[in-house]
Amino acid sequence: MSKPVRVAVTGAAGQIGYSLLFRIANGDLLGKNTPIALNLIELPDALTAASGVVMELEDCAFPLLRETVVTSDLEKGFGDVDVALLVGARPRGPGMERADLLMENAKIFVAQGKAINDFAREDVKVVVVGNPCNTNCLIAASCATRTNPENYTAMTRLDQNRAVAQLAGKTGTAVDAIKNMAIWGNHSPTMYPDWFHTSIDGKSAASVVNDDEWLKGAFMTTVQKRGAQIIQARGKSSAASAASAAIDHTFSWFTGAMTGDYVSMAVRSDGSYGITEGLYFSFPVKIVAPWKYEIVSGLEHGDFSKSRIRITEEELLGERNDVAAMLG
Ligand code: NAD
Ligand code: LMR
Repeated sequence: MSKPVRVAVTGAAGQIGYSLLFRIANGDLLGKNTPIALNLIELPDALTAASGVVMELEDCAFPLLRETVVTSDLEKGFGDVDVALLVGARPRGPGMERADLLMENAKIFVAQGKAINDFAREDVKVVVVGNPCNTNCLIAASCATRTNPENYTAMTRLDQNRAVAQLAGKTGTAVDAIKNMAIWGNHSPTMYPDWFHTSIDGKSAASVVNDDEWLKGAFMTTVQKRGAQIIQARGKSSAASAASAAIDHTFSWFTGAMTGDYVSMAVRSDGSYGITEGLYFSFPVKIVAPWKYEIVSGLEHGDFSKSRIRITEEELLGERNDVAAMLG
């Protein structure tokens, strides 16, 4: 077996961390042939709790887990890491929007962006989960001078999975019969879950669903507001489903395993579809080689899609404006 891949996870003592770490150590993140070394990064006050998680990781006796480091020190935590999963940040509570976390969480991503750029491997791959994840990713990537800003991504796979589950429920089909569900834009209520190029059992999703009012109404709203619905019900934000989506995002990026021709990830806009260059915007992407994605080109958009995509771009431009002073 090869040398372990070093994976940093921030927020290791949090609720997503508790669902995520055991799956990483089990080989779900990078496959069953990839040994793992874990660097768990936590705030000083949460190090004791993180050490309890480490004891449990040890007690699972995962064959792929070779080493676990727990630290608050960013140089040690991000030192030589191959992959960084940036989860640690404050979650929102009932009645809040993710954007309400912007100024508080932004500081975390300034410090971590600098540390990743300074200490991680030059080809480090970054997945931002902490909210508001697109703009936090922009902040971290703005420090990328030695590392590659195209290797910084934010997670909208949970939104893709939620959309697929809604379509499966509505049409009585299996989730894996649903291909090419695209999420455009921000991980926020303005995100655009685009079903126009989605297929169900090889037929267009729109024709199988055969209910335009539902697609443009309840379907979109449910996907856009699912996070808030979960917070309302649980009193806490989604955790196991978020961890599962982070696994899906990274596994697809590394292995090329896609649920169709493409998957959705927030990546650095290269100007595709007229989206402002440099924004971290969710696009449908194709994985063309391990750790190499391309934004899917040539998808046609009608006026409905165009207007939804502009709305979510506008929101991200507003967020970028709010954090302008923090960009590296
Ligand atoms: P949590 O409060 O249970 O855990 C967060 C953990 O992060 C805590 O243990 C805290 O000590 C730690 N932390 C805070 N600041 C840190 C820092 N600077 N460095 C290292 N660790 C730090 O929260 P959670 O439920 O695990 O959620 C974490 C984040 O993920 C939140 O911002 C939440 O909104 C977000 N989230 C995103 C998605 C998505 O789809 N992108 C889905 C669910 C949750
Ligand atoms: C989610 O979508 O469940 C997360 O982003 C948490 C939240 O605040 O909604």
